[in-house]
Amino acid sequence: MPDLRVSLAGVELKNPIVVASGTYGFGHEYGEFYDLSELGAICVKGLTPVRRDGNPPPRIAETPAGILNSVGLQNPGVDAFIAEEMPFLRQYDVKIIANISGNTPEEYGVMCEKLSAAGVDMIEVNISCPNVKAGGLAYGTRPELAAEVTEIAKKHSTVPVMVKLSPNVTDIVQIAKAVEDAGADALSLINTLLGMRIDIHSRRPILKNNMGGLSGPAVFPVAVRMVYQVRQATKLPILGMGGVAKGSDAAELMMAGADAVAVGTACFADVFAPLRVRDGLRDYLEQEGLSARALTNTVQPW
Ligand SMILES: Cc1cc2nc3c(=O)[nH]c(=O)nc-3n(C[C@H](O)[C@H](O)[C@H](O)COP(=O)(O)O)c2cc1C
Repeated sequence: MPDLRVSLAGVELKNPIVVASGTYGFGHEYGEFYDLSELGAICVKGLTPVRRDGNPPPRIAETPAGILNSVGLQNPGVDAFIAEEMPFLRQYDVKIIANISGNTPEEYGVMCEKLSAAGVDMIEVNISCPNVKAGGLAYGTRPELAAEVTEIAKKHSTVPVMVKLSPNVTDIVQIAKAVEDAGADALSLINTLLGMRIDIHSRRPILKNNMGGLSGPAVFPVAVRMVYQVRQATKLPILGMGGVAKGSDAAELMMAGADAVAVGTACFADVFAPLRVRDGLRDYLEQEGLSARALTNTVQPW
């Protein structure tokens, strides 16, 4: 039985499988099917300072190998999360990663303070949401703004801060380095790729928001490429994600440089996807005679 334990900026995970923010809610629905303690960590739905209802529907569109979404950070707000969802999640032996989005750097700071005090294990700073007008992606596409948000988040957190990068940039390495220099403890990537679909009969975009974020198997090679590039350029631990649906995907992303792997869109098609990915990765590691830790960054480029 291979050793599946990994560490993400000092946070010890019993296995490298995390569930991606926004695809797992706060775990309730999935908890009806299996014990959430089976997972390495849960990244909760993106939190904002106050409750948000998200964008108007339709906000999901199908694509040949994934989905487009424009959910727009629907969530109960950070205080309601702490009061109502943390006690539920704390029943399980699983690390809790709070994902946050703000309209201003100060809002990120306030949320970091509250969530640190509430005892989350890690904070994932989302500077990459393509579905909200203010904040989000604006921070993720400009190195100086990404650095500013990182600095404020670090200053107001007592737990490790992981910054989630956007793939909607020309040079992801530039943003990753700016965030590393600003003091981030870890990086997560990738968020969704900005996309669009049109109903040719009505000539209307399928999404009410016109555009949305593409996720699922279609983005997997982009995720592998970006994790690889960022691994080569920074020393920070990486939570890799984007289209992971089976154990071999997790192995590939870890080989490219990820320390742990998040499963997102695959959960919509199969509630057991994270456990299947974990078991497939375990079988691969067993065959190779490797521990999970030893797999990271073992690609041998030509
Ligand atoms: C419906 C939906 C909602 C999402 N909401 C968030 C969010 O609130 N915060 C965030 O950082 N990422 C969010 N994401 C992005 C995912 O966490 C992940 O980065 C992306 O979907 C790529 O992984 P996947 O292909 O495995 O889904 C969302 C993705 C989807 C599909």
